[in-house]
Amino acid sequence: MIVPKSEEEIALMREPCRIVRDCLAFVGERIRAGMTTKEVDELVYGFIKGNGAEPSCLGYCGYPASACVSVNEVVVHGIPDERVLTEGDIVSVDLCAYKNGFHGDGARTFCIGEVSPEKKKLVRVTEECFFRGIEGFRAGMPLYDIGYKVQQHAESNGFSVIRSYTGHGIGREMHEDPSVPNFGRKGTGVRLAAGTVICVEPMIAAGGWRVKVKDDGWTAVTCDGKPAAHYENTVVVLSDGVEILTL
Ligand code: MF3
Ligand code: CO
Repeated sequence: MIVPKSEEEIALMREPCRIVRDCLAFVGERIRAGMTTKEVDELVYGFIKGNGAEPSCLGYCGYPASACVSVNEVVVHGIPDERVLTEGDIVSVDLCAYKNGFHGDGARTFCIGEVSPEKKKLVRVTEECFFRGIEGFRAGMPLYDIGYKVQQHAESNGFSVIRSYTGHGIGREMHEDPSVPNFGRKGTGVRLAAGTVICVEPMIAAGGWRVKVKDDGWTAVTCDGKPAAHYENTVVVLSDGVEILTL
């Protein structure tokens, strides 16, 4: 069931969303070659706790860390470990903060030093896919218009859209209805009411869209080993547009 938030609830969501935004910026300023993905997770844990919030991912369905740190061919849900980041890697950092009874959720893909032109383009196009997706969107419009636009932009750049993971509603729970796919047919899907809060999160692959989950039950990698990127914000749907809470 899709339940729009009241003005008061949206006001309460601003704080966890601000923390997500600032935490992603904090990580972006520090992430570098030589760091392990676990050290990235420690930065996230410290920042969220230091802001009086809880890392929503930690313990979620048994997930063992505060952030998902996904390197190169890892699409999403990379579990932080001793893997050392090296020049040329692209690293997506996805994190959620819980405060005021609500969650905020966001992700960025960072480049470690100089990366290949293909990876650089993938990271740029993935970010553009988010903005294309929400461009012109407002209450009353069909939900799959977002995915349609994301898919158009990704595929017209020679990339593919991950099918098995989607964006989602968010609020008192990290994952609420509706599911927000990054593909779809224009003019289809439910029409969202003003106040609906969703996470729009394009996951775009340089090669094919097929993914498999590793034996750890979390780490999703592309089947062809080609790199993937991820970009996410928490967004409120309004009668005259959208407001991005994690930017
Ligand atoms: N932040 C992720 C999302 O966008 C959720 C990660 S799953 C978890 O939905 F287990 F790490 F929490
Ligand atoms: Co999300």
